[in-house]
Amino acid sequence: MPYPKVWGHRGASGYSPENTMEAFQLAIEMKADGVELDVQLSKDGHLVVIHDETINRVSNGSGWVKDFTLVELREYNFNNNYPLHKHVYIPTLEEVYSLFKGTGMQLNVELKTGVVFYYGIEEKVLELTKRMGMLDMVIFSSFNHYTIKKIKTLNSSAKIGLLYRDGYIAIAEYGKLLGAEYIHPPAYGLNYPDLVKTCIDKGLRINVWNVNDADLKKCYELGVNAIITNYPDRSKKIIEGF
Ligand code: G3P
Ligand code: CA
Repeated sequence: MPYPKVWGHRGASGYSPENTMEAFQLAIEMKADGVELDVQLSKDGHLVVIHDETINRVSNGSGWVKDFTLVELREYNFNNNYPLHKHVYIPTLEEVYSLFKGTGMQLNVELKTGVVFYYGIEEKVLELTKRMGMLDMVIFSSFNHYTIKKIKTLNSSAKIGLLYRDGYIAIAEYGKLLGAEYIHPPAYGLNYPDLVKTCIDKGLRINVWNVNDADLKKCYELGVNAIITNYPDRSKKIIEGF
């Protein structure tokens, strides 16, 4: 059975401010197989990498991402809870792509659209990914299933991951219907091994978020493709011991 690949959730966010160049660089240094990251749109249409729809939790500012231009967003410090990092800025997706280009790592780009509906975000993310020649490296995922369906319709070569939070009875069938290559269940989904097996039998690959140390063995035995974790170094070490 191949080992599950290890992807850093928002970079190596257990050690460095989430979704920042620092956290992504650290994931590279830890030899993670990939990273997961979140994308939203600034007021002036830039793709910015941030998890929440507001900057309140992760910066020294407050307000909605959609209400700031990129220049305005850059004024804030996104070093939340990591005092050792001096001024940490919010990265654009293009900057993150530049960092990873040529590394061979997998990028799981999660499009955050739904709480705030970012009209046209799918076209923008696809255009950038293609322009940078990185379509092969990227999996596009979203809790908004219209968004991943749209990505697939816009470009049939784009790989999409069906991201969900709660249980589905027929997740494999639903994933197939959407044209997904990947299913992204929460760790809670590991309690339903038959669903995982059905997905794999149907040719869908499973990437689980966010997996704690105790569940890594289960992922390995079930044939999970990748696990998403805040601590890629730790997970890798445990998996390599199997
Ligand atoms: O993509 C997996 C995981 O990141 C989804 O949850 O809330 O951390 O974006 P969240
Ligand atoms: Ca995410």
